[in-house]
Amino acid sequence: MFSEEIIQDLISRAIAARQRAYVPYSGFPVGAALLTKSGQIYTGCNIENASYGMTVCAERVAILKAVSEGETEFVLLAVATEIGASPCGACRQVMVEFAPDMPVLIADLAGQTTTLSAAQLLPLAFLPQHLQEAARL
Ligand code: THU
Repeated sequence: MFSEEIIQDLISRAIAARQRAYVPYSGFPVGAALLTKSGQIYTGCNIENASYGMTVCAERVAILKAVSEGETEFVLLAVATEIGASPCGACRQVMVEFAPDMPVLIADLAGQTTTLSAAQLLPLAFLPQHLQEAARL
């Protein structure tokens, strides 16, 4: 569905975004790159805080940047870490809100990539439809 060129470009952008990570506490840079239906690409990096719980992950930075620019239709997300770590639960919840069917490319720096949809990453997710169903009762 997506050309190898698009996939590799998105992964390269996610890897590049790691360079802007603000990670004085963990030393674990994460980069993300999000392709929207309109063809725009939004990148994100993790941004930590001395109050540790205020840290925001790279995936959510990319998604929130896109939403704040008026984009809510997402088609492909790449996330890059040195070891190919998979996205945290909070990020998975934000992904399924907008794009359950979106493939998520989980890349390491050695060229390995695992791909799962946002819904596969978060089985039995709590979704907007659940609130709508409850409101109808
Ligand atoms: N982190 C991400 O950016 N994305 C994830 O999905 C997992 C964790 C960040 C948060 C923190 O800055 C660092 O990785 C270590 O937890």
